[in-house]
Amino acid sequence: MARIFVTRALPGPALSRLEDAHETTVWQHQLPPSYEQLRAHAAQADALLTLLTDRVDAQLLAAAPRLRVIANYAVGYDNIDVGAASARGIAVGNTPDALTDATADLTFALLMASARRITEAAAFAREGRWQTWEPAGFLGADVHGATLGIIGLGRIGQAVARRAAGFGMEVLTTETRDQHNLEHLLRRSDFISIHLPLTAGTRGLIGTQALSLMKPTAILVNTARGAIVDRDALARALHTGQLAGAALDVTDPEPLPPDDPLWSAPNLLVVPHIGSATWSARERMTEMAVDNILAGLAGTPLPYQVPA
Ligand code: DGY
Repeated sequence: MARIFVTRALPGPALSRLEDAHETTVWQHQLPPSYEQLRAHAAQADALLTLLTDRVDAQLLAAAPRLRVIANYAVGYDNIDVGAASARGIAVGNTPDALTDATADLTFALLMASARRITEAAAFAREGRWQTWEPAGFLGADVHGATLGIIGLGRIGQAVARRAAGFGMEVLTTETRDQHNLEHLLRRSDFISIHLPLTAGTRGLIGTQALSLMKPTAILVNTARGAIVDRDALARALHTGQLAGAALDVTDPEPLPPDDPLWSAPNLLVVPHIGSATWSARERMTEMAVDNILAGLAGTPLPYQVPA
């Protein structure tokens, strides 16, 4: 029997497959284990099932001599030092595809909510301030016929593009960090949506310079990783009216500190990293992570292995 440490209780029945086959410890608290707590559990473990909130770096791996497999409960794996894991022969898996449509749906929900001022208008109605139909009340931006710039044309970017087609939007895309293409997209788009992994090359990609190219009427949507956007630069752009709005599922750090200047920015919508938060996506993610762990412990290739 191998020892498995799972860093949080997960939706769906699939974790029982680990519990039936191996000695499995599930962290039952609402907040994640601290780095030190994770390191202490990893030191005894043959397998780890981690979340994006768990930092698995070279130091932690060095303190985990038995570790053979890490299954990350996310498609993104920027929380794991994959290079250090590969060097040790530790297989690393993720959960691609399971959350593509859920995240694309949320991207559109954020885009629509921001364009049509849904949260503001709903609060206005609920607070009893709705007195009459107002000709100029809550005017927003058209989504149909607008231009959507999609930065990153992987699975989720493509799923967003399919939704945009249904709204009659013109879609501009940039697949790579092609500077010329990116600048064109930033200048032309009414909505800009980020769908890139967080890497050394994408960290801070949307900073002062990129924001300065966007239309003052543009709305930025980020459902990828918070650190792709420079949050101070974004706060400045919103406060000065250089950018019309931003809708963020992800921030850096998460959660955003209560005194962060972004909170007081106009036309900012933040939700707590819920892109994949549908029952079916999260249950499927559990199944995939469990499949990865069982394969890794059996010494077979992971069904959803991240590139080394
Ligand atoms: C991911 O999978 O990377 C999302 O951010 C969380 O589901």
